[in-house]
Amino acid sequence: MGKLSGKVALITGATSGIGQAAAILFAAEGATVVFSGRRSTLGQALETRLMQSGARALFVQTDHTIPAECVRLVDSAVQAFGAIHVLFNNAGIVTKGTAETTTEEDWAATLALNVTAVWRMCRLVIPELRKAGGGTIVNNASDWAVVGGKGALPYAVSKGAVAQMTKSMALDHAAEYIRVNAVCPGDTFVERWLEKGYFEHSDPVTLEKAKAESAAYLPMQRFGYPEEIARAALFLACDDSSFVTGHLLLVDGGNTAQ
Ligand SMILES: NC(=O)c1ccc[n+]([C@@H]2O[C@H](COP(=O)([O-])OP(=O)(O)OC[C@H]3O[C@@H](n4cnc5c(N)ncnc54)[C@H](OP(=O)(O)O)[C@@H]3O)[C@@H](O)[C@H]2O)c1
Repeated sequence: MGKLSGKVALITGATSGIGQAAAILFAAEGATVVFSGRRSTLGQALETRLMQSGARALFVQTDHTIPAECVRLVDSAVQAFGAIHVLFNNAGIVTKGTAETTTEEDWAATLALNVTAVWRMCRLVIPELRKAGGGTIVNNASDWAVVGGKGALPYAVSKGAVAQMTKSMALDHAAEYIRVNAVCPGDTFVERWLEKGYFEHSDPVTLEKAKAESAAYLPMQRFGYPEEIARAALFLACDDSSFVTGHLLLVDGGNTAQ
């Protein structure tokens, strides 16, 4: 028996990175996985991979900034599999800029996905969790949800809001056995770094450069990997964390302990 056997897990933004790693791990732990993202080629490839491994899986192409597409995602999950037990709110974007350099467009886009879309998915899925007799919500925040972040103001603000949403929703729904927690990753290597750079970099970085830089400033002298974040999300999603709600689980190699 896997840790999520018999459960239907909905993961947002699983076409790459941490969401993809979570989809693979949750499926290996017995979950039926419904997942979203805008890039349909990647989504369909992951759906095929999960089904070939013996899991039940469904990719629904979704832009989480469009309310009707979120409704369609939740409806598709319930129609296909009858229930939802786990929601991993993972889709997010990183936006750089200080108060002065952030544009109106970047501010609005960051909050639309990283905050409003997280709330929207909770609003749509909580009735399904209630019907199932309870369930779990795991929000993907960031270590910048608990400390200030330099040079990415809209991103840091959005993740601070996710932390507050996590704690407040945990209180609102604790009595109906809906647990709400957040995983707070530190620097975690994803393909996006090679394409778009990360944090202070506005250009793509090589893997070697990212490794050397993280060795210089992170206590464990390395960045994290998506699978390490996925394991923390699994803990919060399954019964191993049955008495945990409203918690922000830092998975940052000690970055915020400094
Ligand atoms: N990597 C890190 O160092 C780190 C650290 C702390 C927190 N996080 C958080 O981890 C989460 C996942 O990011 P990642 O690092 O794994 O990067 P990633 O590989 O870029 O993953 C982001 C995911 O979000 C999806 N997404 C983006 N915009 C979307 C939209 N409008 N509608 C639907 N899906 C959308 C992307 O899919 P499509 O492009 O196909 O839409 C992708 O699957 C984010 O919330 C991020 O803030 C990451």
